[in-house]
Amino acid sequence: MSKSSETRLEELQDLEPSVAEFRASVVEGLSAPQKTLPCKFLYDRRGSQIFDDICDLPEYYPTRTERRILERHARDIAALVGPEARLVEFGSGAGMKIRLLLKALDRPAAYLPVDISREHLIAANTDLARTFPDLCIAPVCADYTAPFALPDLPGIAHKATAGFFPGSTIGNFTRDEAVSFLAGARDLLGRGAVMIVGADLVKDTGILRAAYDDAAGVTAAFNLNLLRRINRELGGTFQLAHFRHEARWNAALERIEMHLVSLRDQEVMVGGRRFGFDKDETIHTESSHKYRLETFRVLAAEAGYEPLEVWTDDKQLFSVHALRTL
Ligand SMILES: C[S@@+](CC[C@H](N)C(=O)[O-])C[C@H]1O[C@@H](n2cnc3c(N)ncnc32)[C@H](O)[C@@H]1O
Repeated sequence: MSKSSETRLEELQDLEPSVAEFRASVVEGLSAPQKTLPCKFLYDRRGSQIFDDICDLPEYYPTRTERRILERHARDIAALVGPEARLVEFGSGAGMKIRLLLKALDRPAAYLPVDISREHLIAANTDLARTFPDLCIAPVCADYTAPFALPDLPGIAHKATAGFFPGSTIGNFTRDEAVSFLAGARDLLGRGAVMIVGADLVKDTGILRAAYDDAAGVTAAFNLNLLRRINRELGGTFQLAHFRHEARWNAALERIEMHLVSLRDQEVMVGGRRFGFDKDETIHTESSHKYRLETFRVLAAEAGYEPLEVWTDDKQLFSVHALRTL
């Protein structure tokens, strides 16, 4: 992505994790007694495309519900953020929800989308730049669980900074990880910044299970794509037909867990290492923690934020919290 004279799309700041980091994480995860793979690696180019398909599924209520909340409260958010703000989005994905805020904000100074999925980030922001040709867009490909710096934008003055973390992506963290992520985001944004976070709510487990195990098998394809990525990038020997997707509700931890279940006793090579699987043994690939309004506020306070507002939909499926960094 290069800076063009027709748009204000800045050059990509590229801190994409290396293949060596990917290999080390996979080997470590598959060596644990409960095999795991970090969910951030679900998002290669194809994984991001499949995730976008998930967002359109009838069972996947979070996307359309959060969109409606944002549509209804975009002006409230704009009033909290104030004019000429620099807007940082964590896990920006297809960059659809930010459009609702960009339209409502008073002369936003710059938009800085941060995402680990490099090609998807480039495509999404090339598209966004066409819709908002006067907006300075400065994409950052990075793993936001590791420290990184925001790009300098010489000549772009801003009066405020705001953070945006939609999609209930915060739910992919354990509670401790969520506190430490929010504390890191607070340091990155600075004091007095408004942070908007989408958090999915605890609800009927039937609704939850269906959202993570849809009838068309799109979520299953998303989960299995991680094995395809390991085969392609790390020379793995996973046979996708020998695993199946499973979504489990963990009541004690109030989270949906995605697993890949081994359909037989088998051995798989990855990065020159051999990993044995018993029949029915699983790889835990993602957790999606569900929150209650008050428990999320307490968590945010622990990370150094003051709660400002919280909005939900009529059915209490999803929440959008407005916080301020202390
Ligand atoms: C659940 S999706 C949400 C996408 C979008 N924000 C939405 O609300 O629909 C999570 C997004 O965060 C990105 N992501 C996941 N883990 C990440 C990490 N550790 N660092 C940076 N981006 C990450 C993914 O590539 C993906 O775009």
